[in-house]
Amino acid sequence: MHIKFSAPTMPNSGVLVAVVSSNKLDSFLSDLDVKLNGQITGLISSKTLDIDKGGSVSILCPVGLSVSKIHLVAIGKIDSHLDYEILGGKVYSALGKEQSDACAVYVPSLPSGDLAGIVASGIFLKSWDFPKYFTKKEATDFCQVKTVTVISEQAADAEKKFRELEQVAEGVFLARHVCSEPPNVIYPETLAAEAKKLESLGLNVEILGEAELEKLGCHSLLGVGQGSSKESKLVVIQWNGGKTGEAPVAFVGKGVTFDTGGISLKPAQDMDDMKWDMGGAAAVLGVMRALAGRKAAVNAIGVMGLVENMPDGNAQRPGDVVKSMSGQTIEVLNTDAEGRLVLADALWYTQDRFKPTYMINLATLTGAIIISLGDEYAGLFSNNDELASSLNDAGLKVGEKLWRLPLAKAYDKQIDSVIADVKNIGNGRSAGSITAAQFLQRFVNQTKWAHLDIAGTAWNKKAGDLYQAGSTAFGVRLLNMWVKKHIEKR
Ligand code: BES
Ligand code: MN
Ligand code: ZN
Repeated sequence: MHIKFSAPTMPNSGVLVAVVSSNKLDSFLSDLDVKLNGQITGLISSKTLDIDKGGSVSILCPVGLSVSKIHLVAIGKIDSHLDYEILGGKVYSALGKEQSDACAVYVPSLPSGDLAGIVASGIFLKSWDFPKYFTKKEATDFCQVKTVTVISEQAADAEKKFRELEQVAEGVFLARHVCSEPPNVIYPETLAAEAKKLESLGLNVEILGEAELEKLGCHSLLGVGQGSSKESKLVVIQWNGGKTGEAPVAFVGKGVTFDTGGISLKPAQDMDDMKWDMGGAAAVLGVMRALAGRKAAVNAIGVMGLVENMPDGNAQRPGDVVKSMSGQTIEVLNTDAEGRLVLADALWYTQDRFKPTYMINLATLTGAIIISLGDEYAGLFSNNDELASSLNDAGLKVGEKLWRLPLAKAYDKQIDSVIADVKNIGNGRSAGSITAAQFLQRFVNQTKWAHLDIAGTAWNKKAGDLYQAGSTAFGVRLLNMWVKKHIEKR
């Protein structure tokens, strides 16, 4: 979709969406109201269109006007920037399955000029869908609008703000795209190739294959991919937008392109959901795309641990002991607790090579976090209070909410092994998300670190305010905001 901006003029064709922000109509809306024989004022006074509550009303085939439809969207209660973005999502939703190509959106004068740009960002974010694999157009359920012209008295300020947010949205779309692709299309090699494409934006991308990982001693990561015919990869993406020589921040993502569970095979029911098990890596890819796109003043590293977890004659067995890059040995008691094995080496590698100021990993790590928090909040674990609270803060700003859970010695004891330094599961089902986080913590050394367990939030079977059903790209906007507010602002 393309978003354009224009000063107020009445469009002469297509669909018009008008945001109504007050019972007192401004000049654009009162002109429109006159042309509609007072329908807008009528809808407001009858509370069919309730400014405070929000909601929308459609006027089809308005007589005497050259536009084909008008959707009136009431602004509702707005408390934050996020609410303006969500308003944009509602504007997009008001279009329904609109089949025409272009539409105009009138955004009335708002308290600051850039807010209309934030509304535009919401329209843009909500517009992304994935029709790629439908061969019959009529079978699709998608809105066909390709160009939206945002009409605003503050068009210039709005556009300036939007062009920055557009780059963040492009990162979100990249993450959604690679998440949505089926697992026969996206596997370690092809996901790495997606990263490589980002070099055109000024990012530096290295792809390590199995031979290099072998040399580094990453047997924890390699063990997971050992039952797959696809080669495991570790991808390192660098964005050097900050001061030369300044230590970077690092983002590390779990990229299990399909998780069958391995020899500890998952049940057939819903196993297809495990194509999303690379949601952490997708978020890392997306945030790196976003930072480069908006030329963020930061040095950032993105690392994706990419494997496919399959059972075959060469697959890892429950009971195997592997040696990680850190030197610690791991007893693999359940091959389905594979994400932590991938991250053990990815985290160690990242801190060892880059000495980041902060290291944040994202992973669809545990089913248990869905039991705890559902799809509302992602789990947050950290060894640093300041980092935890800054992440929490950034999450609230973009509507990607985090809830902190504890790390403690008593939980850590649960992952002591009788045969090796550590085992990859805790005892029974108790505190499953925490014991997984404890495992990761053993591979971060002294680095200030946070782990986001996004198993419940990386995708959603229902649409949200700013996304359609499917991949949410959870983490991209959050980490972008965290960099903007807590790293660049220093
Ligand atoms: N990828 C899964 C976690 C998951 C489950 C994500 C459901 C999204 C939805 C992970 O690799 C896994 O299988 N975890 C196991 C760990 C257990 C074996 C200790 C789990 O959560 O059951
Ligand atoms: Mn698993
Ligand atoms: Zn997994």
